[in-house]
Amino acid sequence: MAPCAKVSIDPVAQFVSDVRTGLCKKGQKELPSKYLYDPLGFALFEVITQLPEYGLTRADERLLRRHATEIVRHVPSPALVSELGSGSGRKTRWILSALCEREPVSYYPIELSRAALESCESELGDVECVSIVGVEREYLDGLREVAALRADGVHLLVLFLGSTIGNFDSGADARFLSEVRSVLAPGDSLLLGIDLWKPPERMLEAYDDPQGVTAAFNLNLLGRINRELDGDFDLRQFEHVARFNEATSSIEMHLRSKRRQVVNVRRSGFAATFAAGETIWTESSHKYTRREIAELAVACDFRVEGQWVDDEWPFAENLWVAV
Ligand code: AVJ
Repeated sequence: MAPCAKVSIDPVAQFVSDVRTGLCKKGQKELPSKYLYDPLGFALFEVITQLPEYGLTRADERLLRRHATEIVRHVPSPALVSELGSGSGRKTRWILSALCEREPVSYYPIELSRAALESCESELGDVECVSIVGVEREYLDGLREVAALRADGVHLLVLFLGSTIGNFDSGADARFLSEVRSVLAPGDSLLLGIDLWKPPERMLEAYDDPQGVTAAFNLNLLGRINRELDGDFDLRQFEHVARFNEATSSIEMHLRSKRRQVVNVRRSGFAATFAAGETIWTESSHKYTRREIAELAVACDFRVEGQWVDDEWPFAENLWVAV
């Protein structure tokens, strides 16, 4: 085997092991937020994006719809487009159609979830002159694969929308974007959608909606463990909690155990004990300031080409160029 070959372990084995590691932790138990998106979680997230309290996705889409023409004017031609975590693909339509005004476009959405890739393919299948090639991989593996197949002189535009970058732990956002940068060539572009800080009451409403859709989305992670790893979580014995962590400027989602209980996850081969009130930390969603975004660009070897900010819901679309 080549010395630096990447050994990829299969996704189920990875899930088995991440769940064991996260729930057997001394101190704060945790589960990686990427596991929220099985087909049911993906469907629940789609509902979240329609909630009046959750303005993030609408702000993202509004900015892309209003400014797509101007944004793509900053992207050299010909360009190949790849997207990290395409979700439903709805927001991407605007950028792809704007690019189509000048040339046929190849679009490579990268997604771990088959369900998301399929929804993206059917959502965008009708945009004329776009050919879609779904890549079912982790973001960086997928991006390396896409970068390797581009022809000389073709520019790469990477989309990372929806403020998914906010889900990385502090420090991990910069590490991740530096890795993205290392796959790019100088002059390539990154369009990064980032949710901005706003008054905590407004943020909390968005992550703890009165209809309980976000609660269902969060609890589904335990349901998924039951379904896929033969777990015996009683979902009624946990509750959704959203809190704003001032120190990290992040909204955190947790699942709080309503009482002392023992849960078995047979496929991971362990039993976890929960004290009454103990939580599993399932997601962080960091809220950025504009200054922080500017510093992040520089730290990751990009220069800022443009920024578009929504006036209803503080959210920024950022176009960075690899230096
Ligand atoms: C899809 C990562 C942008 O952090 O706001 C929505 C996921 N979590 N409600 C976010 C989410 C709870 C969402 N992102």
